[in-house]
Amino acid sequence: KDVAVLVPAAGMGVRLGGGTPKALRELAGEPLLVHACRRLALAPSVAMIVIAAPPDDVDAVRALVPGATVVPGGATRQQSVAAALAVVPESIEVVLVHDAARALTPPELVEAVADAVRAGAAAVVPALPVVDTIKRVDAGEHVLETIDRTPLRVIQTPQGFPRLTLIRAHAEAVGEHTDDAGMVERLGHKVHCVPGSDLALKITRPLDLVIAESLLATHPL
Ligand code: CTP
Ligand code: MG
Repeated sequence: KDVAVLVPAAGMGVRLGGGTPKALRELAGEPLLVHACRRLALAPSVAMIVIAAPPDDVDAVRALVPGATVVPGGATRQQSVAAALAVVPESIEVVLVHDAARALTPPELVEAVADAVRAGAAAVVPALPVVDTIKRVDAGEHVLETIDRTPLRVIQTPQGFPRLTLIRAHAEAVGEHTDDAGMVERLGHKVHCVPGSDLALKITRPLDLVIAESLLATHPL
């Protein structure tokens, strides 16, 4: 066991709606964060889970996930990840970053990402092919071009890194990034893709909660 998983869970879930922070929203009677952490803990490599919680809910999150280290999250996802990264001990070699909102991500994907980091990658991301036709538009919503989707990928989490690479990426980050591999990419490192999973979908909008409920029924663990 040599892996720490950082779990950004401090977002408000504006697109999902409902008024509670998204990680605490329930799916089949349990918060998304609990579903996510249960699956992380089942991955054999995971030694430590660090949750960046909504600042007002730190104690509640400690009670929900007793085995985890819990820190207050920040105003952006990037700041939440940085806060969690700051408490990872030096003895940890591999750090994964995993959205609480990807609550049904299977332990096998966690393990596959960790394995690829151990095999020498500077950054590892789960990737899926794009299924829709993609077009670029102008400010007036007129199509400028249709983009060849063959080389495009949808990127998920967990994303994995050697601890020191992720620390350097955060230290040297310019502006806000929507994922951690994007910062490592900017350092000039190669980012390695492994096959993603439909179960790792990010619960973002109300429809995603409906899909997740149905996925949970067929993939209960
Ligand atoms: N996140 C975080 N800290 C923030 C913002 C987001 O830890 N300040 C986390 C979310 O809790 C989520 C993950 O980053 O697990 C991915 O973000 P997203 O799906 O955008 O969640 P929210 O920001 O909560 O949703 P929205 O953008 O709709 O408000
Ligand atoms: Mg967000």
